[in-house]
Amino acid sequence: MAQMISRDAKKLIRPLVRVLHAYTPGEQPKIKGLVKLNTNENPYPPSPKVLAAVKAATDGRLRLYPNPTAERLRGKLAKLHGCAPENIIAGNGSDESLAMVVRCFVEPSPKNKVRGPGSTTHNPRSVVQYFRPSYSLYPVLADIHGAAKNAVPLNPDFSMPDLAELRCGKQWDFRAALTFVTTPNAPSGRGYATADVERLCAAQKGVVVLDEAYADFANENAMGLALRYPHVLVARTFSKAYSLCFQRVGYLVGHPDLIAALHKIRDCYNVNGLGQIAAEATLDDLSYYRINFEKIIATRAWLSRELTKLGFQVYPSQTNFILARPPLFPAHEWLMKLREKKVVVRWFSQHTVKDFLRISIGTQKEAQALVTAAKAIARC
Ligand SMILES: Cc1ncc(COP(=O)(O)O)c(C=O)c1O
Repeated sequence: MAQMISRDAKKLIRPLVRVLHAYTPGEQPKIKGLVKLNTNENPYPPSPKVLAAVKAATDGRLRLYPNPTAERLRGKLAKLHGCAPENIIAGNGSDESLAMVVRCFVEPSPKNKVRGPGSTTHNPRSVVQYFRPSYSLYPVLADIHGAAKNAVPLNPDFSMPDLAELRCGKQWDFRAALTFVTTPNAPSGRGYATADVERLCAAQKGVVVLDEAYADFANENAMGLALRYPHVLVARTFSKAYSLCFQRVGYLVGHPDLIAALHKIRDCYNVNGLGQIAAEATLDDLSYYRINFEKIIATRAWLSRELTKLGFQVYPSQTNFILARPPLFPAHEWLMKLREKKVVVRWFSQHTVKDFLRISIGTQKEAQALVTAAKAIARC
C-alpha cells in the first residue's frame, strides 16, 4: 500500500458534516434463502413489458446522456394525474425529490438547532417540520442543510393531531418553511383522511410536501391538493408499488412556479436513462400492477389476522407493511429470533416505535413463513 502523506483529513470536513448522523437504510442481506421483509420492497417483479423495455434499451445508447428533464416520463405522468408536464419534476427516487425541496425552500440557519415557535431565536424560514414518528430521512435532510428541525409528536395511536390540538400544543409551526407529512404514515402504516390533510395544508403558510410513497396501497390519496394549493407538493415513487427500487425513480407534482424553481437546482441528468425507460414502460402497463396491489392488500389482511391471533397488537395499515407490537418478549428480541429462523423484519430504536416490528408485506408464501416462524418462537 502507498504511504499516506501526513495531514489531518478530518479538518477538511465541514463541522456540520463531521457531527452528522447519516440515514441508516434497511439491511440488504447477502445470505441466501432469507425471507426479506425489512425494506418495504414490492415482492412481485416488474411487469414483463418493463423488463423487456429495459433490456431493449441496454445497448450502445448507454454512451449517450439521458433526457435531462425526463420529458417523456413527465408527459405520461401528466396524463395519469390530469395535469401538465410543467406540474412535474422527476427525481432519482423520492429521496432525491425530498432533498431537493429542502434545498429549494428552506434557508440554512446559522445555528442548526431544534426549535419550535416558542423559541426566541425562531426563524420559520429555516424550519423543516414533520411529525414523529414519520420517515426518518427528514431530520437527516434538515441536518445536512443546516436547517432547524421541528419534530411534533403524532397522537399515541399514530393519528394526526387536529388543528385545534396543534394550536393548543404550541409546538407546531404554521409558518414553517417546509412541512413533510408522510401519508399514509411510515412506519405506522396509518392512513390519513384527505379532508384532514387538506385542513392542515390550508393552515400552513410555507411549503407542504405530502410524501405519498405508499399511496397505491391506501383507500385515498391527496394528489388533488397538489393541483389546487400552490404551496402543496405531492411526492410519489416508483419504488414501492411499481417494483422499481433498483432503478431509483420518483417525482413531485405541484404548482408550476415551485416545480420550475426545483428544476433550477436539480442535477442536470438526475434521472438515469434506464430508470426513465422503466418508469415509462410501467405507466404503459398499470393493469399488471393493480393486480399486485390487490394481492398485497389481501396478504396484509391475512397477516394482520394471523399475527393478532398470536397475540401481536397490529395497527391497521394502508401501506405495504404493518407495524406490530409483539407479545412475550421485547421487539428487539423478536427481531433476533426471527432472523435465526431466516426471516428479516425491521426494528427502529426511536422510543416512539421501539416496542414494535415493522413487517413488509411479502408474497403470501413469505407471510406464511413469517407466521410459521412466529408460532415456533411463541411456543418456546
Ligand atoms: C415515506 C417514504 N418516502 C420516501 C421513500 C423513498 O423512496 P425512494 O425509493 O423513491 O427514494 C421511502 C422509502 O422507504 C419512504 O418510506
